[in-house]
Amino acid sequence: CILIVDFGSQVTQLIARRVREAGVYSEVAPFNRAAEAFERLQPRGIILSGGPDSVARLDSPRVPQEFFEAGLPILGICYGQQLMCQQLGGSVTPHESGEFGRAFIEVTKRSVLFDGMWAEGERHQVWMSHGDRVDALPPGFHPVAASEGAPFAVTADEDRRFYGVQFHPEVVHTPDGAKLIANFARHVCGLAGDWTMAEFRQAKIAEIRAQVGDGRVICGLSGGVDSAVAAVLIHEAIGDQLTCVFVDHGLLRLGEADQVVGLFREHYGIPLVHVNVETLFLNGLAGLTDPEAKRKFIGKTFIDVFEDQANKIGGAKFLAQGTLYPDVIESVSFTGGPSVTIKSHHNVGGLPERMDMALVEPLRELFKDEVRALGRELGLPELFVGRHPFPGPGLAIRIPGEVTKARCDILRKADAVYLAEIRAAGLYDAIWQAFAVLLPVRTVGVMGDSRTYDYVCALRAVTSTDGMTADVYPFDAAFLSRVATRIVNEVQGINRVTYDYTSKPPGTIEWE
Ligand code: XMP
Repeated sequence: CILIVDFGSQVTQLIARRVREAGVYSEVAPFNRAAEAFERLQPRGIILSGGPDSVARLDSPRVPQEFFEAGLPILGICYGQQLMCQQLGGSVTPHESGEFGRAFIEVTKRSVLFDGMWAEGERHQVWMSHGDRVDALPPGFHPVAASEGAPFAVTADEDRRFYGVQFHPEVVHTPDGAKLIANFARHVCGLAGDWTMAEFRQAKIAEIRAQVGDGRVICGLSGGVDSAVAAVLIHEAIGDQLTCVFVDHGLLRLGEADQVVGLFREHYGIPLVHVNVETLFLNGLAGLTDPEAKRKFIGKTFIDVFEDQANKIGGAKFLAQGTLYPDVIESVSFTGGPSVTIKSHHNVGGLPERMDMALVEPLRELFKDEVRALGRELGLPELFVGRHPFPGPGLAIRIPGEVTKARCDILRKADAVYLAEIRAAGLYDAIWQAFAVLLPVRTVGVMGDSRTYDYVCALRAVTSTDGMTADVYPFDAAFLSRVATRIVNEVQGINRVTYDYTSKPPGTIEWE
């Protein structure tokens, strides 16, 4: 595998993704834990990430010097390149004008890093973001590409297999960057590029068995992809030592609870406790209108119910969770102060502390799309694996104002019509999230010869890569009017449909 040492770049995770896309397993470790990770992983190559600091400062982070003596290939990116140069005897100076954004480099010499992509004398687009730059190379290094602002844009010591790039090959704005990283992983480190989900599945199964022994494990199912994949994998490892608990708060979409129960109990034969607590949740939500108050109530009640069930089942030492890699990577933050809470997405965040159980988190090393690939590997139906994200508090945050059973039922029907049309039009996979929102506002309409006075339904559909920013999905007018007509005709209680045309920012994806 390849060890990625994180110096706090915003895009370090992308390096890990690119390496794995090349079929090579990789893990990220913060610079101050790199030595530990090195011992544990016994990597065949090292990548040093970028970072916001300046190597010119005495107290800025360093690479353990012994990494350079391990005989392993090293690729330094931006700060990582500067650090490598400085620690090996070159020099780096702060420059007043850095290079930020798109830049062009000229290839001046052949290098194995450029195999199959760049030849001498060619110019190529890259993405730069640096103030400091390397001014003198350490012994053994020579430049292999230059940009206007960085004479040592790419440097190499082919004997020791040390490489430095001033630009960021991990971002998409460096069009050949993924290839460059793949060249490092395969041609320089000599890794075969055969890391697959099938292998991961087998390795994890062995790991889960070793961790759990003959102990009992409880896993909460939400209907989402992550907990479903975790549960199926754990069941494959330890069979009926696993019990799944599905806390059904009654705020799910049409037919969703039945799907979860059907899939787990009937299809996989996994022991599943279906706790129907709709009334408890609806009673507690009565009178609550503030979005944060609703979230807090739902989060807390969810944990209470789950804990109660766990006690009833009894004897479980382990709690399984579908935690993903982006939640795990310890971010190295030099500048980040506390940020403002726009929405508290914690859901069941307090669960592990309260339960006092050991955690089983088989997806900790995976990114979302890798979890989907693992789900497919485990034979989970596409309907589950390809699902749009769905918030923990469910429909409660898609009904601004008070949540009632009647409102949930109306919303479920409208949402089902909308999603059925999206699937029928073949658009589901092109959209990050699509859903209906029920507005607690009545407007006047006319149906037949009568006046109606019913709720408004807003439709939302966005594209996004991570939910942090989002664009509106541009449906054509015919599609939207077909959905509007169907909803008003088929869903009693709604007589007007609007489409939300707000991007994020300034809007958020959910309405609450
Ligand atoms: P926003 O609305 O903040 O949503 O733009 C970004 C992503 O987060 C999801 N979301 C939540 N997920 N609990 C969750 O588990 C929550 O309280 C919550 N609020 C929003 C939202 O669906 C989108 O994918």
